[in-house]
Amino acid sequence: MTEPKTEPSTASKIGSATESKTTSTLPANGAAIRTKQLTRHYRLGDSVIRAVDGITLDVHAGEFLAFLGASGSGKSSLLNLLAGLDHPTSGAVFVLGRELGRMTSLELSRHRNQTIGIVFQSFNLLPRMTVMENVELPLRLAEVPRASRPARVKEALERVGLGERLAHRPGELSGGEQQRVAIARAMVNRPRILLADEPTGNLDSNTGEEILRLISGINRPSDHSSDGEEPTAVLVVTHERALAEHYAGRIVTLADGRIERIEQR
Ligand SMILES: Nc1ncnc2c1ncn2[C@@H]1O[C@H](COP(=O)(O)OP(=O)(O)O)[C@@H](O)[C@H]1O
Ligand SMILES: [Mg+2]
Repeated sequence: MTEPKTEPSTASKIGSATESKTTSTLPANGAAIRTKQLTRHYRLGDSVIRAVDGITLDVHAGEFLAFLGASGSGKSSLLNLLAGLDHPTSGAVFVLGRELGRMTSLELSRHRNQTIGIVFQSFNLLPRMTVMENVELPLRLAEVPRASRPARVKEALERVGLGERLAHRPGELSGGEQQRVAIARAMVNRPRILLADEPTGNLDSNTGEEILRLISGINRPSDHSSDGEEPTAVLVVTHERALAEHYAGRIVTLADGRIERIEQR
């Protein structure tokens, strides 16, 4: 295992024009994400689990990509690396041309908060906060001025069809509604990339289909999208091949931490 990189003090980096080394970039060439020989090995006692085992993949800006694969094939481990929630054992992740492993901790937290949005199987909403407060949280972290937050929250919730549920707490909502709130929270900072790890895993099949349709609408905002809006690349892990085939432009099947096949739809 590589040690986490030690970084110079973040405080001294704030506002610096050259926040990272030149070696940390790879021309994006229209890619939202590029991985190079990415690995993540877990050491358990004497054995090594190769959860991600040499994945080189380009995800195009604005594409809808689905990851399929048996349980344990490395889907979540891969998504966590792309999200910057975990560090690779070797190899690299470039997001919009910048290598995550070489970002300062300030840049990395900005990446997690503003460049990507993440949706999990278990929603991960904060139970004591209202819907409004849950969706507002990323705006607070991004230091969006207080005055402009309510409109942004409402817009994000309306986009998922929940504009009327602002004062509810997560426990007062159905699973599908909770996942909609989680999607609104993931999208409120208008990220360029949406990562979703089995977002339909805890939902019945009809609700799951609605959630995927919603996510696909985010990927391809229609007529009502604001002008000049950057496309959002969507990467969804799912068990359900039928859903992947219906919505994804590309399906990447993982097996034992490797890409087993790629299907262009
Ligand atoms: N924190 C961890 N420590 C040790 N092994 C892990 C850890 N996380 C995942 N694994 C192992 O890595 C492999 C891939 O897991 P995961 O990425 O969760 O697969 P998937 O999401 O496709 O089900 C599995 O064998 C799993 O047991
Ligand atoms: Mg998983």
